[in-house]
Amino acid sequence: MDTKILVIGANGQLGSVLTGELQKKFGDDHVIASDLRTRENYKGIFEIIDATDIHRIQEVVTKHKITQIYHLAAILSAKGEETPLATWDINMKTLFNVLEVSRKNTIDKVFFPSSIAVFGEGAPLENTPDDAYLNPATVYGISKAAGENWAQYYFLRYGLDIRSIRYPGVIGYQSLPGGGTTDYAVDIYHKAVLKEDFNCFLKEDTMLPMIFMEDAIRATIELMEAPKESITVRTSYNIAGISFSPEEVVTEIRKLYPDFKVKYKPDFRQEIASRWPKSIDDASATQDWGWQPAFDLKDITEIMVEKLQEKYKKGSRNKEILMF
Ligand code: SER
Repeated sequence: MDTKILVIGANGQLGSVLTGELQKKFGDDHVIASDLRTRENYKGIFEIIDATDIHRIQEVVTKHKITQIYHLAAILSAKGEETPLATWDINMKTLFNVLEVSRKNTIDKVFFPSSIAVFGEGAPLENTPDDAYLNPATVYGISKAAGENWAQYYFLRYGLDIRSIRYPGVIGYQSLPGGGTTDYAVDIYHKAVLKEDFNCFLKEDTMLPMIFMEDAIRATIELMEAPKESITVRTSYNIAGISFSPEEVVTEIRKLYPDFKVKYKPDFRQEIASRWPKSIDDASATQDWGWQPAFDLKDITEIMVEKLQEKYKKGSRNKEILMF
């Protein structure tokens, strides 16, 4: 059967870039982007889906004869703390809907993103392994840890080929993150290029695992393309990109913008970040499907600055506008 991919949460930070890459790989007619609202100027097939509504997911799956689903919709770590129970409901309900529709329609492959937020104080902070003890302290982290186990359950119980990555903070110029603890690492570049001061909500020495968008997207597609037999982790794979602290990004940015000013005003997100790993051991991903990151902090800084300069030169001061 023809590959037909449904991306749920296609307007988000990852989804907006991933849909484009999937279109390049499979062709525009093979990718169905979906989100709560349409995306202006989107070239391709788009369906409005509220993923809390299982009937709507089913309708789109039937209409387009979907064979793969990427379920990217979720409320992230910082935003999730505003309304813990509603966040749990949304993150779990949407996942269960995708799992059930996938099982009933014998969908070939499903992708479910997890996060470094699954780790808490029980895990080693340095080189955190895949199988570390998981005691997350945010609702988002709890929902991802539970989600990973449900993914594995659907694999073991129903043979659903569901695959997952624990993303570090994702840094890209194409789109904006929303409601995460790692978001500062995108915002800081926008501020530098706009020649504005930056108020950082984390302390200067807070090390966190991060990954460049291109690496994150490539990891996702490589995992989904890997032969089924090589996938040994059915909860979620750790993947590492790089690790850095705000002061390290500032040092890199100042090589290009020597006058860039930053104030550190840690807020509740510091508590979240302090419990997350500083660096990640991704040996299983490397062994099973050959994962290797390609971008370091210097590369990321140069590309972010160059691309954002282009964007803002075009006259737009609207950060919301997506760049492709
Ligand atoms: N970037 C996410 C967050 O900060 C982590 O997965 O919530």
